[in-house]
Parts: sequence; C-alpha cells; structure tokens
Amino acid sequence: MTIDLTDSERLAELDLDQLKQLVGLVEYDTKSDPFPVTGWDAVVWAVGNATQSAHFYMTAFGMDLVAYSGPETGNRDHHAYVLESGAVRFVLKGGVDPDSFILDHHRIHGDGITDIALEVPHVDVCIDHARAEGATILEEPHDLTDEHGTVRIAAIAAYGDTRHTLVDRSKYDGPYLPGYVERRSSLVRPDDAPKRIFQALDHVVGNVEIGHMDEWVDFYNRIMGFTNMAEFVGDDIATEYSALMSKVVASGNHRVKFPLNEPAVGKRKSQIDEYLEFYRGPGAQHLALATNNILDTVDRLRAAGIEFLDTPDSYYTDPELRARIGEVRVPIEELQRRGILVDRDEDGYLLQIFTKPIGDRPTVFFELIERHGSLGFGKGNFQALFEAIEREQAKRGNF
Ligand SMILES: [Fe+2]
Repeated sequence: MTIDLTDSERLAELDLDQLKQLVGLVEYDTKSDPFPVTGWDAVVWAVGNATQSAHFYMTAFGMDLVAYSGPETGNRDHHAYVLESGAVRFVLKGGVDPDSFILDHHRIHGDGITDIALEVPHVDVCIDHARAEGATILEEPHDLTDEHGTVRIAAIAAYGDTRHTLVDRSKYDGPYLPGYVERRSSLVRPDDAPKRIFQALDHVVGNVEIGHMDEWVDFYNRIMGFTNMAEFVGDDIATEYSALMSKVVASGNHRVKFPLNEPAVGKRKSQIDEYLEFYRGPGAQHLALATNNILDTVDRLRAAGIEFLDTPDSYYTDPELRARIGEVRVPIEELQRRGILVDRDEDGYLLQIFTKPIGDRPTVFFELIERHGSLGFGKGNFQALFEAIEREQAKRGNF
C-alpha cells in the first residue's frame, strides 16, 4: 500500500506528511478499488463574466493564472481561465458566443460548478465499471492530443447538471488540456504576499433534493467505489427552524471527499431549500479550501473584501463549548476576533470558517479549513453555523 503525490501536489512542493495533515490523506489498497481515483483534477465553473471572475480569484484568493482558452486560441465559444493555488485548479468559463452552453448553464444556475473533474489512472476501467453499474456516460473515453502529449478523458453525470470528467494526464505535460495555452497575469502582488493562501481542496459539498441523498450516496458507493465517512442524520444538524441530513463519501485515499446534503423538514425554509430554489436544482454548494494557516488566510481574504459569516460571541464564551474544544494552537481570542470555528473529535481538532455566497444568488460559498488530526467536517459547529446562516437568510427575506 503506497501513496503517490499527484503532479500538481509535487509542483506545489507539498509532501505526504503535509497532505495527511491538510486533507486527511490515507493509504489504501487500490487493487480492491473498482474505480480508482487519484485525486481532484479541476473544479470547472460556468460564470457570468469569467474575465472578471479570474481577476477576483487572483486578487482576493491569491490564485495564479496558468492557462487560457478563448477566441484568440481558436475557441470562439467561450473564455476559459485556468487558475491554480497549490494543488487546487479552478477553470472559469464564460460565454462569448451568445449561443454558448456556458450561458445556458449560467441562465439557469447562476455562477456555479459544471464539473468536478477527477484525476484517475485508468479512464477506461472507470467507465467500464460505471457503465456496468448503470451510470450515465456523458462522454465516452477518448484522447486529446497536442504538442505536449495526450490526455485520456471521459465524463459521467452526477447530481443535477453537474458532471465528473475523468482525466488521465500521465502522458501529458501541457499547462492544462489540449486547446489551452500557457498564460500568466500581469498582476503584481504586494511584497509581503505569500506564495499562496490555500494549498489543497479538502471537500466539495453537493446539495440534492429532499429524499435523494441516499440515492447519491449509493451512486458514489456503487459506481465510483467511494466509502462512507462520518454520517450526520436528522436532529444532528437542526436548529429550531431548519434542518438537513448529510452523509459523507470519500475516495479510497480520502483526497476526494463529497458530503451530500438534503433538506430535512423544519418549521421554515432551510438553507438547503434556499440553495435548491435559487440554483434551480441540485448542485455543488461549498468548496472547502485547506490551509495550513487559517488565521493569515482569513486576514488576507478579509483585507481583500471577502465577507464571512458572523459567529456570535456567545459561541466563544459558552463554557460547554470551551470544554469541548480544549486546547488549540492559538488563543481562543484570536479565533473569536476572526469568527473562526473550532471542532474536536476523537482524532484531533479542526478550525473552519465559511464565506458568504460568492455570487449574486444565495448558492455557492467557500469554507476555509485547517485540520489538526480531525477527519471530521465540523459537525459540532453546525448548530452555531446554521443559526448564523439563518440570520443571513432572514436579511434576504428567504426565511
Ligand atoms: Fe464543509
């Protein structure tokens, strides 16, 4: 049982110990995995204005532009900007041709994630297994080739209009995919700026309709060989007015983790209901970005104008909570000043914080997470968090 770093992790100068700490990477036997997944390949977004979104992720989130496709490269349909931070790759697409698929997606869903692309060692093996298990194959395996080599690629349908493209880039050394050219930004960072403010993608949460969570857990178990992690059900995550059910599935090495939420019946509209209404169906709700210094990351994001959910002061002064979280690496006051939440389980603790929605609709947002042994998702914080989310929902008149 060995575990190899992905190319993007190597390029980002991450090592195995860091990744075990950052995202809870584990060793496992790939031979018994019917659908081996190496890790994340890219998160592909359809946005209303990719040119400006790219600027936002570069200036606020400290990401670097590495590749581009657009009219100048022969792609008359859309702009696509490829941004990286550590091992994280975002591809931001915005329609140029008024008939572009990107604009159709955007019209329905607003800014959102079209594709959670995964790196796999054997595209054909995965597709054969997925087909046998009844998955919808959106793209049959095929090669894309340019002067940098060949990428083997295919795609399967996931929840809503979301897909998983499967990519084997082991015979490719270009900046992203054939059709993309290397591109850098003229942006000048301040002298004190770190190389990056987050290093890896920890998890991507999917919201699905009421009654459909187990269907999607089954999809990831059966079709993609994912295993179940922590499980939250019913009252675990409920405020007086809204509730949700959540289960978490993960790839064998735990690099890829998918919590899946469905609304539960509450007295009022839950945050999952609000998402489903404004996203017009199931979709990716939040992305958790792993950082090894959440205090600095939050300070830099806030200085760049990113807004976070407020955490009530009572969260930090509550003696029960203080007792539960115990000792963490920084004084509680430092966390309180920034609104950073703490959760602890038998394996350790984690620090986390959530942004407000990053687009115009109350749908997609980010989480920052710094893990110290805990492989959880902040279950103990859900109550405090939901109360904060509900205050925001109420301000928007959707509660
Ligand atoms: Fe999360």
